[in-house]
Amino acid sequence: MCEQHLHDDERDARPSGPVAFVDELVVALTNARIYSDEHPRVNSAVEVLHEGLQHLLRESDRGRVQIGASDGFIFYAGQPLLGASLSAQRLLQTLEELGSGGLSFESTTTQEDLSSLVRFVSREAKRVDRFDVANSALDKQGCRSVRLLPPYQEASGSWTDKIESEWVEDFESETLQTALDLDLDMELPARIYQDVVGALQDAMVQSCSGKNLDTAPAAGYVESILTQLTHDTTSMMRLSRYEKYDAFTFGHSIRVCFIALNFARHLTKDERLLERIGMAALMHDIGKAWVPFEVLHSTERLSDAERAEMNMHPVHGGQILLDSNNPDPLAVSVAFSHHQNQDGGGYPQSIRLARPSAATMIVKIADVYEALTAVRPYKPKMAPARAYRIMMDMQGFFEPSLLRRFIEVNGVYPVGSRVKLSTGEVGRVIQLTDSPLEPIVSTDQAESGEGLFYEDVQDLDLRERFGKNRIKVDKVLLDAEM
Ligand SMILES: [Fe+2]
Ligand SMILES: [Fe+2]
Repeated sequence: MCEQHLHDDERDARPSGPVAFVDELVVALTNARIYSDEHPRVNSAVEVLHEGLQHLLRESDRGRVQIGASDGFIFYAGQPLLGASLSAQRLLQTLEELGSGGLSFESTTTQEDLSSLVRFVSREAKRVDRFDVANSALDKQGCRSVRLLPPYQEASGSWTDKIESEWVEDFESETLQTALDLDLDMELPARIYQDVVGALQDAMVQSCSGKNLDTAPAAGYVESILTQLTHDTTSMMRLSRYEKYDAFTFGHSIRVCFIALNFARHLTKDERLLERIGMAALMHDIGKAWVPFEVLHSTERLSDAERAEMNMHPVHGGQILLDSNNPDPLAVSVAFSHHQNQDGGGYPQSIRLARPSAATMIVKIADVYEALTAVRPYKPKMAPARAYRIMMDMQGFFEPSLLRRFIEVNGVYPVGSRVKLSTGEVGRVIQLTDSPLEPIVSTDQAESGEGLFYEDVQDLDLRERFGKNRIKVDKVLLDAEM
């Protein structure tokens, strides 16, 4: 019944290199937790992983590839890879429990070796407690080209030290400035994000294996998200923009959760209610776990029958949450109704006396906004203002006053966005003000394109005059320009 729903179809759009390799490893490990060893999904994930390894080996002159794991982050060539680390929580945890500092792959590594590794880490690692015992177990399976490494020596300092001394480019496409921009404020949000991805992976594995969902771990993390959003909205919302690092459908759910919570906390101060809304947002698409893989990832136009299968995900989601160990009616109704419209349209069609609940409407707004503004393989990113215009034109979809409030709260230049100013400087929106077009911007890049030193970084309240002139936002920087 259950088909995996990792984004295999995004592979072509993703960069090759260490980040993609770690992403592929996580995909393979997650698939191996769901399926039997010989299942085609596991085999194809290992095949792609092997291709990724070959690519890295061609680029490396050492004849081997080593992936470090330390302080809850993945390292490559002595540098932390934030993007890769975001999805790799379970792998990092397993390596830590075995006292291992990473993985080493020789140039002779075969697909069978990678299968052994994937099988071992996803299923058998629990039974051993040391990395050298793990290596003996791999030996016995005939896998001698992959090794669990001893603790990662070069990375023995904290993540903080690593950033200050050695942080360089994570991606070919990134400027050094952007890499440096991943500063210390991001460490805690990144750890929360990792935990939530881990919890979502577990939730998917449980749903796919026909077990009842245990929602408690994810609920605990929603509390952390809420606390962190309250204390440091900028870092959290910045992380919600790191979709290019994200190889999974989980990213969509987490971003919808961030966006919905950031909105909802302007509507109510009831912490318990906010936690329930956050949880409902996080789980709104859990029903996709039961949609056949081919339908979920079809790049063709769906046939009527396939469309009908796809449109069942809210019904499946409601069912999965209803069967969970501690069902919350609010989460069940959000999962069931998030594709129903304010005017009675949408799906599933149901005979009901009430319109979708306020919580459902909040999640629905966040869901559509995320889908419009995120990068997908088939479309570039869209500026928030344009997304708002499209949403305003979607007659009957949303509750109009709630949508207006969302636009007000989220802003024309949402917190976390990178913007170019009329002075030519580039910075990040850190706070909205009572004037929608004049947020507070922290500049970090001079007109020349060079990064500013910390002491030159300024927080500019664009409502103020600077000399005779007003400084305005010229434009929001999207992907390539960030
Ligand atoms: Fe959905
Ligand atoms: Fe969704």
